[in-house]
Amino acid sequence: MKPVKVGLLGLGTVGGGTVNVLKRNASEITRRAGRDIQICSASARDLTQPRICDTHGITLTTDPFAVVEDPNLDIIVELIGGVSPAKELVLKALENGKHVVTANKALIALHGNEIFAQAHKYGRMVAFEAAVAGGIPIIKTLREGLSGNRVEWLAGIINGTSNFILTEMRDKGRAFADVLKEAQALGYAEADPTFDVEGIDAGHKLTILASIAFGIPLQFPKVYTEGISGITPEDVSYAEQLGYRIKLLGIARRADKGIELRVHPTLIPAKRLIANVDGVMNAILVKGDAVGPILSYGAGAGAEPTASSVVADIVDVVRALTSDPENRVPHLAFQPDAISDIPV
Ligand code: HSE
Repeated sequence: MKPVKVGLLGLGTVGGGTVNVLKRNASEITRRAGRDIQICSASARDLTQPRICDTHGITLTTDPFAVVEDPNLDIIVELIGGVSPAKELVLKALENGKHVVTANKALIALHGNEIFAQAHKYGRMVAFEAAVAGGIPIIKTLREGLSGNRVEWLAGIINGTSNFILTEMRDKGRAFADVLKEAQALGYAEADPTFDVEGIDAGHKLTILASIAFGIPLQFPKVYTEGISGITPEDVSYAEQLGYRIKLLGIARRADKGIELRVHPTLIPAKRLIANVDGVMNAILVKGDAVGPILSYGAGAGAEPTASSVVADIVDVVRALTSDPENRVPHLAFQPDAISDIPV
């Protein structure tokens, strides 16, 4: 069978990690996907930048629209982040008959309803595992693993940068700004790091998780967001003395009317598992009525952990490509007509 042809938008931390994982694990990935996967082209803002991956054999361009217009490609992997031009690129790719894999939480949280409607219209898939909690397969866990449950609530550490900052402040007494700089250098932080430290990135991710867990539309404006920028070293050390840890949590829970969605720093007893999730690690607790509480834990940011989720989505799409469109399991986009409008 012919290889599935992939175009990458973005060759930064996650793009580079994706190329490396696809190359290194090619034979296992092919066995699981049922077809060879070939990265044919990639766009990057600056082609002269040093890369973490070998781009030999990949056609490079500075124009992402040239990639989505390439008639030879089957899947577009969007890793440039931000809303524009990512949104235009994804909508165009779907219109051009391509399936889309994206790690873009802001895009899905803010424009997912429109993107999934477009995917539905053109009979294409949009997969977004890497948009939430880096390498933790939490989207697949909620959508497939817990599909027999009524989710009662979920709560998670879903921003690696904030968790890294809080951990370094607690363990080493480091200054907030100094740790944030390191998180940026390590490729954990957003292009605009206020998204990390003001709870906005966690709010985007919570929006996506809640939509899947509770079957509600994506509605980021209804999420209460408060970040960690006001947390002082004194707050961290007082919490410790009292037997607590400060963690930035995203919480979604059923309330009397609708679903409550909030992101804010939270005091957690130090003995709890989630209080011991440190550094760039993320963890999400989900309470299902049948399964009870489960905890998913893993790296929430970084090149290869995030690439792990991107590649898993590519494999899912490739598998689905070989099945009857009516029987694609899982359907990788939300089905707009299946969403109930629960007020938040
Ligand atoms: N800036 C994000 C974080 C990257 O720190 O969690 C992964 O989504």
